[in-house]
Amino acid sequence: DLVRELRGLFDVEQRLARRLGLQRVIVVPGDADVDETAKKEIARATARFLKEVLREGQVLAVTGGTTLAEVARSLPEESVPLGITVIPGRGGLGEDVELQANTVAAEIARRLRANYRLLHVPDDLPDEAVNSVVSQPQVRELLALIRRADIVLHGVGTAEEMARRRRLGAADVEKLRRLGAVGEAFGYYFDRQGRPVYQTGTFGLRLEDLAGCGQVVIVGGGRSKAEAALAVISTRYQDVLITDEGAALRMLELL
Ligand code: G3H
Repeated sequence: DLVRELRGLFDVEQRLARRLGLQRVIVVPGDADVDETAKKEIARATARFLKEVLREGQVLAVTGGTTLAEVARSLPEESVPLGITVIPGRGGLGEDVELQANTVAAEIARRLRANYRLLHVPDDLPDEAVNSVVSQPQVRELLALIRRADIVLHGVGTAEEMARRRRLGAADVEKLRRLGAVGEAFGYYFDRQGRPVYQTGTFGLRLEDLAGCGQVVIVGGGRSKAEAALAVISTRYQDVLITDEGAALRMLELL
Protein backbone atom coordinates (compact mmCIF):
# COMPACT_ATOMS: atom_id res chain seq x y z
CA ASP A 1 0.00 0.00 0.00
CA LEU A 2 2.92 2.32 0.63
CA VAL A 3 4.08 1.86 -2.97
CA ARG A 4 0.59 2.59 -4.21
CA GLU A 5 0.44 5.73 -2.11
CA LEU A 6 3.88 6.96 -3.16
CA ARG A 7 3.11 6.45 -6.81
CA GLY A 8 -0.17 8.31 -6.55
CA LEU A 9 -2.11 5.17 -7.42
CA PHE A 10 -4.92 5.93 -4.96
CA ASP A 11 -5.58 9.09 -6.92
CA VAL A 12 -5.54 7.15 -10.20
CA GLU A 13 -8.01 4.65 -8.70
CA GLN A 14 -10.41 7.39 -7.69
CA ARG A 15 -10.20 9.20 -11.02
CA LEU A 16 -10.86 6.00 -12.93
CA ALA A 17 -13.74 4.99 -10.67
CA ARG A 18 -15.35 8.38 -11.18
CA ARG A 19 -14.83 8.50 -14.94
CA LEU A 20 -16.01 4.93 -15.47
CA GLY A 21 -18.85 4.96 -12.96
CA LEU A 22 -17.37 2.00 -11.05
CA GLN A 23 -17.91 1.17 -7.39
CA ARG A 24 -14.28 0.36 -6.86
CA VAL A 25 -10.99 0.37 -8.77
CA ILE A 26 -7.78 -1.29 -7.55
CA VAL A 27 -4.54 -0.39 -9.34
CA VAL A 28 -1.29 -2.24 -8.55
CA PRO A 29 2.16 -0.91 -9.52
CA GLY A 30 3.84 -1.92 -12.81
CA ASP A 31 2.80 -2.94 -16.29
CA ALA A 32 2.03 -6.58 -17.03
CA ASP A 33 3.05 -6.10 -20.69
CA VAL A 34 6.68 -5.73 -19.70
CA ASP A 35 6.82 -7.15 -16.20
CA GLU A 36 5.43 -10.54 -15.12
CA THR A 37 5.40 -9.47 -11.46
CA ALA A 38 2.67 -6.91 -12.24
CA LYS A 39 0.37 -9.77 -13.30
CA LYS A 40 1.19 -11.57 -10.06
CA GLU A 41 0.39 -8.39 -8.12
CA ILE A 42 -2.96 -8.09 -9.89
CA ALA A 43 -3.65 -11.71 -8.97
CA ARG A 44 -2.71 -11.14 -5.33
CA ALA A 45 -4.89 -8.02 -5.11
CA THR A 46 -7.77 -9.99 -6.64
CA ALA A 47 -7.30 -12.86 -4.19
CA ARG A 48 -7.39 -10.36 -1.30
CA PHE A 49 -10.50 -8.73 -2.74
CA LEU A 50 -12.25 -12.11 -3.01
CA LYS A 51 -11.40 -13.04 0.56
CA GLU A 52 -12.75 -9.70 1.69
CA VAL A 53 -16.11 -9.81 -0.12
CA LEU A 54 -17.08 -13.51 -0.27
CA ARG A 55 -19.71 -14.59 2.25
CA GLU A 56 -20.95 -18.03 3.20
CA GLY A 57 -23.60 -19.39 0.83
CA GLN A 58 -22.53 -17.24 -2.10
CA VAL A 59 -21.89 -18.31 -5.68
CA LEU A 60 -18.69 -17.20 -7.44
CA ALA A 61 -18.55 -17.51 -11.24
CA VAL A 62 -15.15 -17.24 -12.93
CA THR A 63 -13.76 -17.21 -16.45
CA GLY A 64 -10.45 -18.53 -17.73
CA GLY A 65 -7.20 -16.99 -18.98
CA THR A 66 -3.70 -16.59 -17.61
CA THR A 67 -4.67 -13.78 -15.22
CA LEU A 68 -7.51 -15.79 -13.67
CA ALA A 69 -5.28 -18.88 -13.46
CA GLU A 70 -2.79 -16.72 -11.53
CA VAL A 71 -5.60 -15.49 -9.25
CA ALA A 72 -6.36 -19.13 -8.39
CA ARG A 73 -2.70 -19.76 -7.58
CA SER A 74 -2.60 -16.67 -5.33
CA LEU A 75 -5.36 -17.84 -3.03
CA PRO A 76 -4.27 -19.32 0.28
CA GLU A 77 -5.14 -22.95 1.00
CA GLU A 78 -7.86 -22.59 3.60
CA SER A 79 -8.15 -25.02 6.47
CA VAL A 80 -11.81 -24.23 7.11
CA PRO A 81 -14.34 -24.46 4.25
CA LEU A 82 -15.64 -21.08 3.15
CA GLY A 83 -19.12 -22.42 2.39
CA ILE A 84 -19.30 -20.98 -1.11
CA THR A 85 -19.84 -22.52 -4.54
CA VAL A 86 -17.45 -21.85 -7.42
CA ILE A 87 -18.59 -22.32 -11.01
CA PRO A 88 -17.22 -21.57 -14.48
CA GLY A 89 -18.99 -18.74 -16.30
CA ARG A 90 -18.72 -20.39 -19.68
CA GLY A 91 -17.85 -23.73 -21.21
CA GLY A 92 -14.55 -24.12 -23.06
CA LEU A 93 -13.70 -21.35 -25.50
CA GLY A 94 -11.16 -23.27 -27.55
CA GLU A 95 -8.25 -22.69 -25.19
CA ASP A 96 -5.70 -24.97 -23.59
CA VAL A 97 -7.10 -26.80 -20.61
CA GLU A 98 -4.96 -24.98 -17.99
CA LEU A 99 -6.51 -21.70 -19.08
CA GLN A 100 -10.13 -22.86 -19.16
CA ALA A 101 -12.76 -21.56 -16.78
CA ASN A 102 -13.44 -25.10 -15.51
CA THR A 103 -9.81 -25.52 -14.45
CA VAL A 104 -9.69 -22.11 -12.77
CA ALA A 105 -12.97 -22.78 -10.95
CA ALA A 106 -11.77 -26.17 -9.71
CA GLU A 107 -8.46 -24.74 -8.42
CA ILE A 108 -10.17 -21.83 -6.65
CA ALA A 109 -12.62 -24.28 -5.08
CA ARG A 110 -9.82 -26.58 -3.96
CA ARG A 111 -7.96 -23.74 -2.26
CA LEU A 112 -11.03 -22.23 -0.61
CA ARG A 113 -12.44 -25.66 0.23
CA ALA A 114 -15.55 -24.61 -1.63
CA ASN A 115 -18.16 -26.63 -3.48
CA TYR A 116 -17.85 -26.57 -7.24
CA ARG A 117 -19.75 -27.54 -10.34
CA LEU A 118 -18.20 -27.81 -13.77
CA LEU A 119 -19.51 -27.33 -17.26
CA HIS A 120 -18.16 -30.16 -19.39
CA VAL A 121 -19.18 -29.35 -22.90
CA PRO A 122 -16.93 -29.64 -25.95
CA ASP A 123 -16.43 -26.48 -28.00
CA ASP A 124 -18.10 -26.04 -31.35
CA LEU A 125 -20.91 -28.53 -30.88
CA PRO A 126 -23.59 -28.37 -33.56
CA ASP A 127 -26.76 -26.56 -32.43
CA GLU A 128 -28.89 -29.70 -31.94
CA ALA A 129 -26.22 -31.19 -29.70
CA VAL A 130 -26.01 -27.97 -27.66
CA ASN A 131 -29.80 -27.99 -27.24
CA SER A 132 -29.74 -31.55 -26.03
CA VAL A 133 -26.92 -30.84 -23.56
CA VAL A 134 -28.64 -27.71 -22.25
CA SER A 135 -31.84 -29.66 -21.62
CA GLN A 136 -30.08 -31.99 -19.16
CA PRO A 137 -31.24 -31.24 -15.60
CA GLN A 138 -27.70 -30.93 -14.17
CA VAL A 139 -26.72 -28.46 -16.89
CA ARG A 140 -29.93 -26.45 -16.45
CA GLU A 141 -29.28 -26.27 -12.75
CA LEU A 142 -25.74 -25.03 -13.33
CA LEU A 143 -26.92 -22.43 -15.86
CA ALA A 144 -29.45 -21.19 -13.30
CA LEU A 145 -26.64 -20.85 -10.74
CA ILE A 146 -24.52 -18.89 -13.23
CA ARG A 147 -27.42 -16.49 -13.78
CA ARG A 148 -27.65 -15.65 -10.13
CA ALA A 149 -23.96 -15.58 -9.25
CA ASP A 150 -23.16 -13.22 -6.38
CA ILE A 151 -19.76 -12.44 -7.81
CA VAL A 152 -18.65 -12.76 -11.42
CA LEU A 153 -14.89 -12.53 -11.84
CA HIS A 154 -13.77 -12.26 -15.44
CA GLY A 155 -10.63 -11.52 -17.45
CA VAL A 156 -10.32 -9.21 -20.42
CA GLY A 157 -8.22 -9.49 -23.55
CA THR A 158 -7.59 -7.61 -26.76
CA ALA A 159 -9.74 -8.91 -29.62
CA GLU A 160 -6.61 -9.63 -31.65
CA GLU A 161 -4.83 -11.68 -28.99
CA MET A 162 -7.93 -13.66 -28.04
CA ALA A 163 -8.75 -14.46 -31.66
CA ARG A 164 -5.20 -15.74 -32.10
CA ARG A 165 -5.24 -17.76 -28.91
CA ARG A 166 -8.54 -19.38 -29.83
CA ARG A 167 -7.32 -20.12 -33.33
CA LEU A 168 -10.13 -18.28 -35.11
CA GLY A 169 -9.92 -18.66 -38.87
CA ALA A 170 -8.81 -15.88 -41.22
CA ALA A 171 -12.41 -15.08 -42.22
CA ASP A 172 -13.47 -14.58 -38.59
CA VAL A 173 -10.40 -12.48 -37.82
CA GLU A 174 -11.23 -10.29 -40.81
CA LYS A 175 -14.84 -10.06 -39.62
CA LEU A 176 -13.71 -8.94 -36.16
CA ARG A 177 -11.59 -6.22 -37.73
CA ARG A 178 -14.45 -5.06 -39.97
CA LEU A 179 -16.81 -4.91 -37.00
CA GLY A 180 -14.31 -2.83 -35.01
CA ALA A 181 -13.86 -5.38 -32.21
CA VAL A 182 -11.18 -4.24 -29.77
CA GLY A 183 -11.88 -6.13 -26.55
CA GLU A 184 -12.99 -9.59 -25.46
CA ALA A 185 -14.49 -10.99 -22.28
CA PHE A 186 -16.24 -14.35 -21.60
CA GLY A 187 -16.46 -15.17 -25.31
CA TYR A 188 -17.95 -11.83 -26.41
CA TYR A 189 -16.02 -9.39 -28.56
CA PHE A 190 -16.83 -5.69 -28.13
CA ASP A 191 -16.27 -2.57 -30.21
CA ARG A 192 -15.06 0.72 -28.69
CA GLN A 193 -18.57 1.69 -27.64
CA GLY A 194 -19.01 -1.57 -25.74
CA ARG A 195 -21.37 -3.08 -28.29
CA PRO A 196 -21.07 -6.87 -28.55
CA VAL A 197 -20.22 -7.43 -32.22
CA TYR A 198 -19.23 -11.10 -32.27
CA GLN A 199 -19.66 -14.09 -30.00
CA THR A 200 -17.81 -17.38 -29.66
CA GLY A 201 -20.16 -20.33 -30.05
CA THR A 202 -20.46 -21.87 -26.63
CA PHE A 203 -22.88 -21.43 -23.81
CA GLY A 204 -23.05 -20.38 -20.20
CA LEU A 205 -23.10 -16.80 -19.03
CA ARG A 206 -24.82 -14.47 -21.50
CA LEU A 207 -24.02 -10.79 -21.52
CA GLU A 208 -27.51 -9.82 -20.38
CA ASP A 209 -27.26 -12.26 -17.44
CA LEU A 210 -24.76 -9.90 -15.81
CA ALA A 211 -27.65 -7.59 -14.95
CA GLY A 212 -29.02 -10.26 -12.60
CA CYS A 213 -25.68 -11.09 -10.98
CA GLY A 214 -24.28 -9.39 -7.88
CA GLN A 215 -20.87 -7.78 -8.24
CA VAL A 216 -19.19 -8.02 -11.64
CA VAL A 217 -15.41 -7.75 -11.41
CA ILE A 218 -13.14 -7.24 -14.43
CA VAL A 219 -9.49 -8.21 -13.94
CA GLY A 220 -6.58 -7.53 -16.27
CA GLY A 221 -3.55 -5.36 -16.76
CA GLY A 222 -0.84 -4.24 -19.15
CA ARG A 223 -0.95 -1.05 -21.21
CA SER A 224 -2.00 -3.08 -24.29
CA LYS A 225 -5.28 -4.05 -22.58
CA ALA A 226 -6.40 -0.47 -21.79
CA GLU A 227 -8.59 -0.05 -24.85
CA ALA A 228 -10.04 -3.55 -24.47
CA ALA A 229 -10.92 -2.93 -20.82
CA LEU A 230 -12.57 0.40 -21.67
CA ALA A 231 -14.63 -1.30 -24.37
CA VAL A 232 -15.86 -4.00 -21.97
CA ILE A 233 -16.58 -1.50 -19.18
CA SER A 234 -18.60 0.56 -21.67
CA THR A 235 -21.24 -2.17 -21.43
CA ARG A 236 -21.87 -0.71 -17.95
CA TYR A 237 -22.25 -4.17 -16.38
CA GLN A 238 -19.02 -4.01 -14.37
CA ASP A 239 -18.83 -2.80 -10.77
CA VAL A 240 -15.17 -3.34 -9.93
CA LEU A 241 -11.93 -3.09 -11.93
CA ILE A 242 -8.65 -4.63 -10.77
CA THR A 243 -5.73 -3.62 -12.98
CA ASP A 244 -2.17 -2.30 -13.07
CA GLU A 245 -0.55 1.07 -13.48
CA GLY A 246 0.31 0.47 -17.16
CA ALA A 247 -3.32 -0.12 -18.13
CA ALA A 248 -4.76 2.44 -15.72
CA LEU A 249 -2.64 5.36 -16.94
CA ARG A 250 -3.34 4.46 -20.56
CA MET A 251 -7.08 4.28 -19.81
CA LEU A 252 -6.99 7.79 -18.35
CA GLU A 253 -5.21 9.00 -21.51
CA LEU A 254 -7.83 7.41 -23.72
CA LEU A 255 -10.81 8.76 -21.78
O1 G3H B 1 -11.18 -13.14 -21.91
C1 G3H B 1 -10.04 -12.71 -21.74
C2 G3H B 1 -8.97 -13.61 -21.44
O2 G3H B 1 -9.42 -14.66 -20.67
C3 G3H B 1 -7.80 -12.90 -20.81
O3 G3H B 1 -6.74 -13.77 -20.78
O4 G3H B 1 -5.65 -13.15 -18.67
O5 G3H B 1 -4.55 -14.63 -20.33
O6 G3H B 1 -4.82 -12.20 -20.81
P1 G3H B 1 -5.35 -13.40 -20.10
